Amino acid sequence: MTRAGDYSQRISTAVTDFVIVGSGVAGLFTAIRLAEKGRVTVLSKQDLIAGNTWFAQGGIAAAFSPEDSPTLHFEDTWKAGNYFGDRAAISVLVEEAPARINDLVDLGIRFDRTDGAIALGREGAHSMKRILHIGGDATGRELIESLIQAAKEAGIRFIEDAFAEHIAVEDGRCRGLFYSTNGGLHYIAARAVIIATGGCGQIYQFTTNAPAVTGDGLVMAYKAGAILRDLEFFQFHPTVFLPPEGQPFLISEAVRGEGAYLVNANGERFMLQQHERAELGPRDIVARAIVEEQRKTKDFVYLDLRHLGADFIPRRFPTIHSRCLEWKLDITKDLIPVTPAAHYLIGGVEVDLDGRTAVENLYAVGEVASTGVHGANRLASNSLLEGLVFGHRVAMEAAKNGDPVNKELPLELPLYFNSVPDREAVKECAALRRDLAWMMWHKVGLIRTEETMLEMKRALEKWLPLTRYRYSSPELNETANMLLVAMMMTEAALLRRESRGCHYRSDFTESDDTLAGKQIAFRDAVGANAVKQLPRAKLSDKISVK
Ligand code: FAD
Ligand code: SIN
Repeated sequence: MTRAGDYSQRISTAVTDFVIVGSGVAGLFTAIRLAEKGRVTVLSKQDLIAGNTWFAQGGIAAAFSPEDSPTLHFEDTWKAGNYFGDRAAISVLVEEAPARINDLVDLGIRFDRTDGAIALGREGAHSMKRILHIGGDATGRELIESLIQAAKEAGIRFIEDAFAEHIAVEDGRCRGLFYSTNGGLHYIAARAVIIATGGCGQIYQFTTNAPAVTGDGLVMAYKAGAILRDLEFFQFHPTVFLPPEGQPFLISEAVRGEGAYLVNANGERFMLQQHERAELGPRDIVARAIVEEQRKTKDFVYLDLRHLGADFIPRRFPTIHSRCLEWKLDITKDLIPVTPAAHYLIGGVEVDLDGRTAVENLYAVGEVASTGVHGANRLASNSLLEGLVFGHRVAMEAAKNGDPVNKELPLELPLYFNSVPDREAVKECAALRRDLAWMMWHKVGLIRTEETMLEMKRALEKWLPLTRYRYSSPELNETANMLLVAMMMTEAALLRRESRGCHYRSDFTESDDTLAGKQIAFRDAVGANAVKQLPRAKLSDKISVK
């Protein structure tokens, strides 16, 4: 440890009551809920729309139709998660869903309607129509714009281009956060720090995720002493279009929910043989079936929407329709070539039902958190919902707790924070990101095996020293964070010698009953992982990480 007073760089200090890192659905909704409870500061490492939420298409799941109920939503979530989720957390998610949707309506968000009633779409593994959407397929964009406006009206302070780096912890209690801007290094003291930094999709070569989604919050929480778990469960979305240039583009599951077919190069609907719900089977099954079909035909697999009608398609999917036209693909007439891509981190920072981590006054919410609701495979459109439901709960909990704010700099900083890399290390780190993403895609991707994962592990061990520095640019710090996360994902996937949900190993293709309730968790040091059992037996059980 080094004393903060010895730190070579000048550090500006500020105070607030609640610091929220991240301006996606989880961060913004938590911020709005906290606005009446104290001063709230929200940081985003780029602009406010930088995360994944902005790109969300399908919508938000909630039991809203007369035929539906939280019980049915529970059953679908539990089943899609391969019976691995936390039943208490799932109950909270589905039971509080309608109230949180009503909160959004109160904030002025206008969900799409048909004949006056909220329009409900269908997605994979849902037993009925329960996806609320906005602007057809522009749910994320509309949601973020409305939440930003509401947050600004509530007097929340935003700091953009602020890269959160390190959580200050003393005697096991979080007391603030270090972040950097172009202008330097800053410390902000707070009663509570809430991590809402999203997942880590950029760790993979092909991903639907925004460039900002690099796993920073996972590493910050881990270094602060929180627990990370379930990192072997990473979901791949089955239907992504790879444009000639630029980011992969998601073709929403809602498209299949409206009746689009998946066909192989011979025009055959191959999902009919794979699952009773055909194209609307669970994501992992559809994604693996696509890869198998690609292997057999040595060609793409295609989405066929043409029978949905040239009037309906642009009305229901205006974003997808217009983006595809930019790539000279008229989806009312042309088939869309699709392939799976990395989409969603199921594991994350272990939290209880109120978003508390193992560190006092440190909370996590949204994709970065592991509440346990998704089990081993996430049900479509449950993620935005999770950000809302648990964002509300985090806000209520954080408002009740917290130590008096202490503006003084923490006495001690970890050594890495003041260790400057040499020129070779900087060069190596800068060159690494593409190799890392390529290797993760090929070695710890949709289908993994001991042999490929050991290859990944060996490469990561070689790169490990690069994670021991603090770099002067956010991009390099992101790469170091991605390395650490990749390491833990690989370790966890190696340790789980079975297939379960979206963790599929070609060397252990079946689930192992003895691992049914076991979770892989990391704390303190990379590689120091343990298989542990969390209570999950009864509906009313409350998990506690304390
Ligand atoms: P994000 O929205 O990813 O926001 C993360 C925030 O953290 C950003 O503001 C970023 O700038 C900030 N940040 C990160 N690191 C730092 C740092 N070091 N310092 C400061 N700030 C930082 N889910 C659904 O339920 N329904 C859907 O229809 C749906 N569609 C999707 C479509 C796409 C293309 C994608 C990629 C995902 C989709 N998902 C959907 C998943 C869902 O959108 C995400 O899981 C959810 O939006 C995550 O929200 P979040 O608030 O946790 O994080
Ligand atoms: C989609 O629209 O297909 C994405 C939905 C989700 O990831 O929940």
